[in-house]
Amino acid sequence: MSVQKIKTYFEKASSNYQEQSKSFPWNILRYFEYSTFSKNFHFNNNVNILEIGAGVGFYSDQIIIKKPSSYTCIDVSSKMLSQIKSKSIKKICVDFNDFKSSDRYDIILCLGVVEFFESPADSLQKIYELLASKGRAYFYFPKKNLLGRLYFWMHKKNGFEITLFHKKEYRKELERLSFRIEFEKRIGFFNSLVCVSKQ
Ligand SMILES: C[S@@+](CC[C@H](N)C(=O)[O-])C[C@H]1O[C@@H](n2cnc3c(N)ncnc32)[C@H](O)[C@@H]1O
Repeated sequence: MSVQKIKTYFEKASSNYQEQSKSFPWNILRYFEYSTFSKNFHFNNNVNILEIGAGVGFYSDQIIIKKPSSYTCIDVSSKMLSQIKSKSIKKICVDFNDFKSSDRYDIILCLGVVEFFESPADSLQKIYELLASKGRAYFYFPKKNLLGRLYFWMHKKNGFEITLFHKKEYRKELERLSFRIEFEKRIGFFNSLVCVSKQ
């Protein structure tokens, strides 16, 4: 899958991304995702957070209010990132494949992004390496079912193929990398919130 095509798509979508998220059917998806996430995401202030594919800052805007030690957002689209207004957030425009850091993060968020990775297995490995010992990473894994396939075809029309996941597949991959699965929460028929830790 070409990262360039994904970048072009999100650069174009960025101008009305926030409005579109508030309209049907994205508003329903957003509602279920966020209510599941907010019920299950807790942290002490003393943490460094990395958000991959942070987009226009839907999650970072709400989390930064709770004053973590640091918050870094990365995204391949500068136009998406430019809409994040908080000065407390460090923004880096980069393809995650090319992202390099000697820092280790206590929390990594990867929400609505795994399906766009060229090689999800390699990206999960990289997330494992960037995670601090005892750190936690949170993912949404879109399901390989009828709704997932609609999502797949929608992006196929945009010129790229996303990856959908069977529960067995992502579990196997996470466990192969030695992540410990802390919990999984179903989000309707569409995807799952998965929290893993590095022991
Ligand atoms: C569906 S949006 C989700 C945005 C945000 N996480 C949210 O839930 O509002 C996916 C985001 O991932 C970014 N993205 C996709 N592939 C990426 C990559 N390889 N490296 C960095 N960002 C990427 C896109 O530019 C886009 O902003």
